[in-house]
Amino acid sequence: MNAPVVAVDGPSGSGKGTVCRRLTQRQGWHLLDSGALYRLVAVSGQLAGLAADDIAGHAALGRSMRAVFGVTPAGDERIELDGRDVTRLVRAEETGQGASRVAAWPEVRSALLPRQRAFAEPPGLIADGRDMGTVVFTSAALKIFLTASPEERALRRYNQLKDKDSGVSLAALSREIAERDLRDSTRSVAPLRPASDAFVIDSTGMPVEAVVERVIELGRARALWR
Ligand code: C5P
Repeated sequence: MNAPVVAVDGPSGSGKGTVCRRLTQRQGWHLLDSGALYRLVAVSGQLAGLAADDIAGHAALGRSMRAVFGVTPAGDERIELDGRDVTRLVRAEETGQGASRVAAWPEVRSALLPRQRAFAEPPGLIADGRDMGTVVFTSAALKIFLTASPEERALRRYNQLKDKDSGVSLAALSREIAERDLRDSTRSVAPLRPASDAFVIDSTGMPVEAVVERVIELGRARALWR
């Protein structure tokens, strides 16, 4: 690993995705959206008709699936799986639930390790996930753990999804986020927790610009950028 890595971990709806995208744009660095890889394993399994509990089958798909992350001419994200546009399916809340189930299996997590580490290319990588600082990039130059109150996270998720998915409700999202938080933080492998050397940022009530500015300051203090 010869490129600097900034690891940004935290629970669903903590704003990691937005903060990481802004940082990559500012720096011209690569982005690893590791949650999208777990989502893609869940989607691949579903499309291949795998049983929900077929651990080995999902791990094999994690190694073999061909995923391409791109943007449309209008600047929206586009995710392809084996040549097929699966963006909406990947981002659906239901897929988040499926991802959190497959992510609890150690076989799936190890299948995705080399794929995630391969993203660390010059000039640098912003890595967004749950275990970037604790497992995947333990020697990251900067580790951030971003959080916010469960109410605010549910609301942010709702605002993010409501235009894309008319079926979402705030009450259902709050329940699902609580379920996912519990599963992600109590699993035996790579549970969601801050690395011992991570800076914890509680973004409750903070505008996204302020969070980005705080991370930029921390990166400056470590001479990662100007
Ligand atoms: O961040 P996102 O909502 O896309 O992640 C979907 C699920 O994937 C999470 O709830 C979590 O269970 C899992 N995940 C993980 N480790 C990561 C990233 C995501 O276990 N590094």
